[in-house]
Amino acid sequence: MLSKANNDLLTQTGPGTPCGDFLRSYWQPIAAADEMPIGGAPLPLRIMSEDLVLFRNDKDQLGLIGQFCPHRGTDLSYGRVEDGGLRCLYHGWLFDINGKCIDQPAEPKDKKFCHKVRHAAYPVREKGGAIWAYMGKGEPPMIPDFEFLMGPEPNRHTFRVVQTCNWLQGLESSTDPAHTTYLHRRPPGKKSVRSGSDIAALRGTEPPDISIQQTDYGTRIFAIHNSPNGKKYLRVNNYVYPAGATPSTSTGESGYQGRWYVPIDDYTHCRFEFFYRHSEPLNKETLIQNHHENVAADNRHVRRPENRYLQDREELKRNESYGGMGLYFPAQDAFAIETQGAIQDRTREHLGSTDIVIIGVRQALLKAIKKVQEGGEAPWLQRTPADNPFADFICTSGYIEDHEDGPSFCQRVLASKAAAE
Ligand code: FES
Ligand SMILES: [Fe+2]
Repeated sequence: MLSKANNDLLTQTGPGTPCGDFLRSYWQPIAAADEMPIGGAPLPLRIMSEDLVLFRNDKDQLGLIGQFCPHRGTDLSYGRVEDGGLRCLYHGWLFDINGKCIDQPAEPKDKKFCHKVRHAAYPVREKGGAIWAYMGKGEPPMIPDFEFLMGPEPNRHTFRVVQTCNWLQGLESSTDPAHTTYLHRRPPGKKSVRSGSDIAALRGTEPPDISIQQTDYGTRIFAIHNSPNGKKYLRVNNYVYPAGATPSTSTGESGYQGRWYVPIDDYTHCRFEFFYRHSEPLNKETLIQNHHENVAADNRHVRRPENRYLQDREELKRNESYGGMGLYFPAQDAFAIETQGAIQDRTREHLGSTDIVIIGVRQALLKAIKKVQEGGEAPWLQRTPADNPFADFICTSGYIEDHEDGPSFCQRVLASKAAAE
């Protein structure tokens, strides 16, 4: 349970809010790269309650500027891409990728006042199949070289989905190892299209033993399952500052997923998924097909509150899925978090022993937000290429020795990593 003050602190992300300042200290993914093809239309985006438009100018440079024209407020996302910028349709004012007004064609030559107009603009970069924005103050840090952004293109793929609830509910779903045994249960022998694994065969159907460790990058999360073959199966997941998670999806050593939760406003957010394999290409055709079968053109899941997530009670009774909502994990997660309410009232919840992760991640977040609120620097900002933010980062799943637990397994992996360097 949280106090109302702490629930507000964690969930309010608009300009000037403490959590908003914390999130703005980092680069945030704002769109999938394939949403901004060369020559494509400007894309209106609301990010952390700010209305913006992302566009490529006619030199293929990306810009992110305020959505509404500073002249008299017309929507620039309908504008013309020309002359090095984005031109408003109403009176032709032209803005470059830095938000600078560079033309006011309707004003007489001696009365132009471009230099007096300041329009909102944020730096943008393309990395790892996503477009990222820095909406904070001062010199931007680096976008860390996550494996899931840096691997060869055939080994990774990025999706963006809109979910109708506060960002923290999304993040909490990706860091919570207790729910997978229930919400995502599937019949034995049924492989996941996304991970390619028979999860029940790997993990069994009993609840895992869960523990956490706080680290420099966030929170390390351990879930140990008693596998049907008598061995212990460990999943190491992570909460990563500021809004990331790396749930290991039973793909073992072969790879994992990065996820990132970006507020649109306080009642909706984008979930970014970064699929990644270390050494083999992804089956992109199947992944993309699976995505399009389950996500509509508005970037929301086909299963949504308006159709009661197409729940099929007969499917549930036959145990073909746990909740009668098909076998697509992200739609099951969307059901769980969207029905918690637009902003979950955490003053009314009753946390149990398996919610240790939820408590740990909130503690890490509150500490970081308060540090920024008091004028300190947000944690885990990478300032120079020489910094190695991933020194103690582990994301994996697999069988461990009987005598090992999560922390001792990680200690062994980090020691052998250090010895190899
Ligand atoms: S409102 Fe945009 S140019 Fe006038
Ligand atoms: Fe889930």
